[in-house]
Amino acid sequence: MDFIEAIGLAKSYTPKRAEPVHALDGLELLVPQGTVTALLGPNGAGKTTTVKVLTTLIRPDAGTATIDGIDVLAHPERIRPIIGVSGQYAAVDENLTGLENLDMVGRLYHLGARQSRARAKELIELFDLSDAQNRVVRGFSGGMRRRIDLAGALVTRPKVLFLDEPTTGLDPRSRLGMWDIITSLVGEGTTVLLTTQYLEEADQLADSISVIDDGKVIAKGTSDELKASIGGQRVEINLVSADDRGAAVEILRRFGTSEPSVSPEGRELTVSSDDAPVALQHILAAFGEQGVRLYDAGMRRPTLDDVFLRLTGHMASDEGEGEASGPEASGEKRGGKKNDASERRAS
Ligand SMILES: Nc1ncnc2c1ncn2[C@@H]1O[C@H](COP(=O)(O)OP(=O)(O)OP(=O)(O)O)[C@@H](O)[C@H]1O
Ligand SMILES: [Mg+2]
Repeated sequence: MDFIEAIGLAKSYTPKRAEPVHALDGLELLVPQGTVTALLGPNGAGKTTTVKVLTTLIRPDAGTATIDGIDVLAHPERIRPIIGVSGQYAAVDENLTGLENLDMVGRLYHLGARQSRARAKELIELFDLSDAQNRVVRGFSGGMRRRIDLAGALVTRPKVLFLDEPTTGLDPRSRLGMWDIITSLVGEGTTVLLTTQYLEEADQLADSISVIDDGKVIAKGTSDELKASIGGQRVEINLVSADDRGAAVEILRRFGTSEPSVSPEGRELTVSSDDAPVALQHILAAFGEQGVRLYDAGMRRPTLDDVFLRLTGHMASDEGEGEASGPEASGEKRGGKKNDASERRAS
């Protein structure tokens, strides 16, 4: 049994005078103990709603969830002591100092005065907040609040940690610091479910990534598996002149394995290939024969960006454009391929 198991979670909201919103629509999630799973998805995908259900803050309309074998819906009071939560928006007491905020959490969890104080001081150090420990939170910057809130989630050394966009609003140094902290917690056996908008964050931290959209998981796997799932490598070409793009598209189409995509200004073209080095050689030779001038050419493996945009790209203009022949219609880089995403959903 996995440490976190959620099956068939559904949750709808019916705002006044509006269509119902299906925040969760049959979401499934399995998180093994001592691993990091990232929920990756666009705004409104259902990430925060998933975290709220698993942390007992809301009840789903349907579905089941267990953490460490405990039924979340039947025994929320047994779940709360074993979890730590840092919500999307920092929940801190404005009128207490940084240290007092952490101490308060310890006392609420019945740690005892001395132990609570010691743990608070330890976390202040860990989160690099020594300078700010005796200032009231009202005067904290957004990033400092975020760090105090995260520290609060760690006071009780929970077995499982839910982090809803833990590094949004942090500067690059604090973000790296946060990644170190999360990595070392996982090293000590903590199970982490985090949501993120940052592909690099999922790439760095997550053992497994679940891409979610419209309240359900549309793809999951390791970062490498997801990249491989959208196929091969990429050949990228930069033209000196956009006037050559017609000829360039023809050539890429001949040697690539996907419909070439063209950047809006028409000079940057990308095509998939199962054997990029060979394809690149052919493409360069053909460009030479036809006198197409190149500014730059290269190959790369797909990034998580490619995966994310390919799977979740919702461009209204993509609807019904599946048969369009122009290269602009299939711009994967700009998040096209709604059709592709639907295929994946079906499979
Ligand atoms: N209390 C609520 N009342 C009405 N609709 C809600 C409520 N909570 C969430 N929703 C809707 O459910 C959907 C999923 O919301 P959720 O907050 O889970 O998204 P998210 O993936 O966390 O997005 P973001 O990246 O913007 O934080 C959205 O359409 C949202 O508007
Ligand atoms: Mg959210």
